[in-house]
Amino acid sequence: MPALVLIGAQWGDEGKGKATDQLGGAVDYVVKFNGGNNAGHTVVVGGETYALHLLPSGILSPGCTPVIANGVVVDLGVLFHEIEGLEARGVDTSRLVLSSDAHVIASYNRQLDKVTERFLGSRKIGTTGRGIGPTYADKMNRVGVRVQDLFDEKILRQKVEGALEVKNQVLVKVYNRRAIAVDEVVEELLGYVDRVRPMMADTALLLNQALDQGKTVLLEGGQATLLDVDHGTYPFVTSSSATAGGACTGSGIGPTRVDKVIAVIKAYTTRVGEGPFPTELLDEDGERLRAHGHEYGTTTGRPRRCGWYDAVIARYAARVNGVTDFVLTKLDVLTGWEKIPVCVAYEVDGVRYDEMPMTQTAFHHAKPVYEMFDGWTEDITGARRFEELPKNAQLYIRALEEMSGAPFSSVGIGPDREQTLELRPLLP
Ligand code: GDP
Ligand code: IMO
Ligand code: MG
Repeated sequence: MPALVLIGAQWGDEGKGKATDQLGGAVDYVVKFNGGNNAGHTVVVGGETYALHLLPSGILSPGCTPVIANGVVVDLGVLFHEIEGLEARGVDTSRLVLSSDAHVIASYNRQLDKVTERFLGSRKIGTTGRGIGPTYADKMNRVGVRVQDLFDEKILRQKVEGALEVKNQVLVKVYNRRAIAVDEVVEELLGYVDRVRPMMADTALLLNQALDQGKTVLLEGGQATLLDVDHGTYPFVTSSSATAGGACTGSGIGPTRVDKVIAVIKAYTTRVGEGPFPTELLDEDGERLRAHGHEYGTTTGRPRRCGWYDAVIARYAARVNGVTDFVLTKLDVLTGWEKIPVCVAYEVDGVRYDEMPMTQTAFHHAKPVYEMFDGWTEDITGARRFEELPKNAQLYIRALEEMSGAPFSSVGIGPDREQTLELRPLLP
């Protein structure tokens, strides 16, 4: 079997963790290829809830090898904390593999993330404060620290010295903070060496060999299409490639090996942090979506902004990712509305847009053009087949599918593994 890519279609928190966990039993490797502990995936297995940040969701499937690939930025303190938490609950994490090329989030980058946000004031991005942006900036500036550098103290020290030479000036002179000592950073990182050694590998080689042997590899994206640094709502984005293309650069698997691109999409829309959001609801409906959907961040606990389904975004995601399958989630949250609006196009300064506008300014001014659908009141969380859903729920799903640019493969009707209706098989 070739490689499968799974990504978010909107602004994150679509339920990628649940979807990955569901496929986990049928795949051999689950690979995290971008982002870091800015991600938060809640996975519910038989009533037990797990919150994952840095570990791929495949960690919960026995027999599946979880891989943190080169495209990820790794906070080693968080990594071992998360491993210990899962081990304490009886989850075996011993198969975890970590790329020697992955970049490490150093303490100075966590600090810089927080102080730059504070400094930006009303222009802030609303980051998770985990040091993600500054660490990717170091990577692109070619002053980053990689996992393999931990094994050469001389190089590590040189790199940290080089990075701090500039960063300390910024911290002290621009942000009025204390300077960070080179020794402090080096010692913290060296403290992880013994625990990193057994899990470090050339993950690109490992994954390509696995594919050669006919194994199935699932590449799991953190964040989502509209948070992608190239294709998202820049500058209100994260700093990595969260779209399907990022799965290749972030893992070392060539595009010709990718067979399917699965996009996870909510039956409505949410966003955490700042930035434009055309279908956002600032009224009672928004409150109700937040309450019904428990829309509070897994990572920062922030209330998520909520709005109706946006088919322009779905079509955009289908296009920039080359989506072969959509996984629709959280349909159950929409139960009880008499009418459900769906955004089918935008209007900007009197002009209709059926596709994403070219500029951010236009997107900021986009007003949703809504089509109304009839709702349903029956509890759908116990359904096990599509045909068991109320007629209006079936019509809603088929209407979304029609306007979203790729077939729907499954529908989520609750957080548990069992609460998913399969429309067509994702795996052969
Ligand atoms: P991720 O970051 O994309 O993995 O998504 P999150 O885990 O941050 O947020 C999705 C939330 O919705 C989690 O709490 C899931 O348990 C939950 N969830 C996933 N699918 C469904 C569904 O179909 N219905 C309901 N009610 N909850 C779901
Ligand atoms: P998962 O994988 C939702 C958002 C932040 C902020 C912006 C930049 O759970 O879907 P960063 O810390 O990455 O520099 O923040 O991106 N963001 C997310 N929003 N889900 C996520 O991950 C996110 N990861 C980052 O809120 O607006
Ligand atoms: Mg999340």
